[in-house]
Amino acid sequence: MSADSYSCANSGGEGHHFGDVRESFKIMATTSDSEEEVKLVYLVHLTMTSNGNCKYSCATATETLEWIRASIDFINPYSFFWESHVVNFLTHELWKAVDKEWIDCLRKEPVEYLVQIPSGFVQDHWPSSLKKFITTSSSLAFPREQADLEKVLPNMQVALLNAVITQGMNPKKKHEIEALAGVVSSVARDVETNTVIDVGAGQGYLAQVLSFEYQLSVIAVDSSSHHGTITHTRAQRIKKHYDARKHKSSRKMPKTVTCCVLSSDMLKGLLAEQDTHIDMCCSSVLLTGLHACGDLSVTMLRTFLECEQVKAVVSIGCCYNLLSEEEEETKDDDGMCGFGFPLSRGVKSSGLHLRRNARDLACQSADRWRGLGKDESLHNFEMHAFRAAFQMVLSKYFPETLTTSPTIGRQGKAFRRIITNNVEDRCSLFEKFSQSAMHRLNLNNNKNIDFAGIWKKAEPFYEVIGAYWSLRAALGPVLETLILLDRLLFLQEQGVEAFMLPIFDPTLSPRNIALIATKNNKRL
Ligand SMILES: C[S@@+](CC[C@H](N)C(=O)[O-])C[C@H]1O[C@@H](n2cnc3c(N)ncnc32)[C@H](O)[C@@H]1O
Repeated sequence: MSADSYSCANSGGEGHHFGDVRESFKIMATTSDSEEEVKLVYLVHLTMTSNGNCKYSCATATETLEWIRASIDFINPYSFFWESHVVNFLTHELWKAVDKEWIDCLRKEPVEYLVQIPSGFVQDHWPSSLKKFITTSSSLAFPREQADLEKVLPNMQVALLNAVITQGMNPKKKHEIEALAGVVSSVARDVETNTVIDVGAGQGYLAQVLSFEYQLSVIAVDSSSHHGTITHTRAQRIKKHYDARKHKSSRKMPKTVTCCVLSSDMLKGLLAEQDTHIDMCCSSVLLTGLHACGDLSVTMLRTFLECEQVKAVVSIGCCYNLLSEEEEETKDDDGMCGFGFPLSRGVKSSGLHLRRNARDLACQSADRWRGLGKDESLHNFEMHAFRAAFQMVLSKYFPETLTTSPTIGRQGKAFRRIITNNVEDRCSLFEKFSQSAMHRLNLNNNKNIDFAGIWKKAEPFYEVIGAYWSLRAALGPVLETLILLDRLLFLQEQGVEAFMLPIFDPTLSPRNIALIATKNNKRL
């Protein structure tokens, strides 16, 4: 059965609903005589049904492209949102591009409603065009609800991690490592490989769990030699503990390699080097990376395609802001070298360019925002308002600084949870914020800056910034989905079996979608 056979899930014309997938799953499951085929269809079914809002599928290149095109058609008219930056809200009068009816409605709404907009929640009394914008965004975003991994990957066994191996991990990291290690070992078993390369391994948490708990041979690669040293020291300590537990066979430590991986050629070179290493057989390997930033995740996908010995890849990306992006048409049609976005022929031919602000927006987490309490949400909007008003200070008194796109970082503790409804208090808070920001930017404070005058101009728009931010943030999940679907399509265009799976709880770990691909006709 070719991969295209799965597109029967999409036989319902424009997009489709999960009911269709469920139906097709039943048909495939009863008519297919190969167990492996049933397993993959089952997996696609489970992935697709994890969010009742999403009406798109990405089981085949055709379907993925359809989803991508629908997303691009949707976001294009809203480029004023995703090309903008909230710091310019006041200086560029950004609210003027937004439907006045939407702003007039949302400026009076409670903050609890606003922070739910990026997650697709609407209120009945909102204008219908506004509701349509929000629900369409939501329907185009890839489902994020954590999959039931043991159902999706029937051979998955999750090792519960002991206190020694989890030492130093915070709850988020422990959750990620527990789930990802189970997924990686399951995929490794499916493609019959025993060697894993953890790219961007950090302090080696994943590498150590794969070595000591799953008995895999692991190479932990990171650009930071400091991380390499920590990984090694930590692994030695863990090994002592496991060696002392006589009932378990002796474990191999993960091998640490310090290397800044900048291309698939470098990663291939690294694999070739390891192959000559006495203990390490790299004739068949699985590549993985937990939150491998920017282009690093893309380099892993390219290496997977180019390198015969890489049998599978399990990649979870992050920091899309760091992706390199193709600004102009190039001859690099197969995406085999070059930029981090776009990769697929499908997205390249659309002519879409995201650029920095949109890639930043793709890193936002709707789940995190929804989980914030009222005070923290108000505080965040207040900080956005102060930052936008501070841009007015820069524009008037330090225009040369603006050309360098200054970042002032988080104005943390000094402003934590100071929320006031008093206009004068807010003005003095704004002055305090500005003084602190100027200090961070090493700006001369001798100018006689009229902070009160600037805040007077900003104040009337104070309550609009939350509405603007929330509407803009509704596009974040669609943009992230587009970046991930581009990666998926890039693999599917090469005839590879690949799929995306939300493997972490999104409220704990927002970048939770794993891209999993395998070779050698091995089906998951
Ligand atoms: C977000 S951290 C993730 C660390 C680890 N995977 C984890 O989740 O705990 C990204 C890691 O990738 C490493 N890194 C970034 N760019 C790299 C590159 N080009 N080559 C190798 N490592 C890189 C960084 O040093 C950092 O440790």
